[in-house]
Amino acid sequence: MSLWDKRDDMVVHEREPFNAEPPPAALAGRTTPLDTFYSRNHGEIPDIDPAAWRLTVDGLVEQPLELSLAELRERFEEVEAAVTLQCAGNRRAGLIEVRDIPGEDPWGPGATSTARWCGVRLADVLAEAGPLPDAEHIAFGAPDVSRLAEPAQPYGGSITLAKARGAEVLLAWGMSGAPLSRVHGAPLRVVVPGWIGARSVKWLTRLTARREPSDNFFQTSAYRLLPAGDGPGPGGPGQDRPGTDGHADGIPLGPIALNCDVLSPRGGRRLPSGPTEIIGYALAGDDRTVARVDVSVDGGRHWVQADVDTAESPWVWQHWRTTADLPAGEVEITARAWDSTGAAQPESPVHLWNPKGYANNSWARVHVTCE
Ligand code: MTE
Repeated sequence: MSLWDKRDDMVVHEREPFNAEPPPAALAGRTTPLDTFYSRNHGEIPDIDPAAWRLTVDGLVEQPLELSLAELRERFEEVEAAVTLQCAGNRRAGLIEVRDIPGEDPWGPGATSTARWCGVRLADVLAEAGPLPDAEHIAFGAPDVSRLAEPAQPYGGSITLAKARGAEVLLAWGMSGAPLSRVHGAPLRVVVPGWIGARSVKWLTRLTARREPSDNFFQTSAYRLLPAGDGPGPGGPGQDRPGTDGHADGIPLGPIALNCDVLSPRGGRRLPSGPTEIIGYALAGDDRTVARVDVSVDGGRHWVQADVDTAESPWVWQHWRTTADLPAGEVEITARAWDSTGAAQPESPVHLWNPKGYANNSWARVHVTCE
């Protein structure tokens, strides 16, 4: 019996709350089939009556609003755009190999997927409400209560007003030609291109303009990059400094870290030696694009440049491919991406380890045996 209309070959990390990633082959297309789009949840999935649902816009605005779905559709221009979502926990399994991360699931490279989203621009709704000069952040509220939060509370988060005013940020009711499904946030969700998936709040019910970031647990405690601490394994400075936004420890995550992974061949496979096609995806954060992907089949001594798809927009992943001559024996395939600012992925996950296991963007590594 498939869960939430997902394919049976999804890697299910948890059934309740539902957390699942697609097998790598499902990530090879420009968009991801809906039945394999990853799903990341922190609480029970709400069942919202779209007719009774309202979006409240309040806080530091000239004109608070309360909008039904019909009003959103009538009063604002409908737009459609392809956007890749990527969770900050993507590739956490690589950090767990460095040092255990109790309580967090070992996500592989599949906490990412792409859809064509349909809805209205958040900027247009905000323009109607008129943020006051003091407003600097837009907080998102949702009804799904997470017992993983301390204390238990509904899911939430925020983005800066500057990002919220970008034409790319959507309030979406459609996903790849279908109505947004319950598991992906029906009737309405936020889609924040270029930022970690956590800010793309599902089952959206409230937009609040604030001077400060959201004080929701998932903004102030989770989805923050904490220092590694003094425990066993890779260390770092202690966790006694306030975060950069004054809330708590660590850096609140916003833009996605430049990343890539190998989709084929998969690790652990036995393959014939000789010319072999290697394919993967890469995604740069915020409005950057992927400029280059290097691939090595000898542990990084020699590199070839892969063919990288032209960026359709900064908001979607780019696939890459190359053919390499795999020698007989144990082979490590390595890939690293460079973005349009010239930044590259770091080599090792060892110094990226952090207590919640976010933002592992170390070089992709896959081990195969060639005969
Ligand atoms: N929104 C709500 N209300 N509750 C959640 O648990 N999870 C967030 C985000 N929005 C979440 C949420 C996280 S961490 C991610 S990565 C994305 O939703 C995943 O979106 P998807 O499940 O549609 O793939």
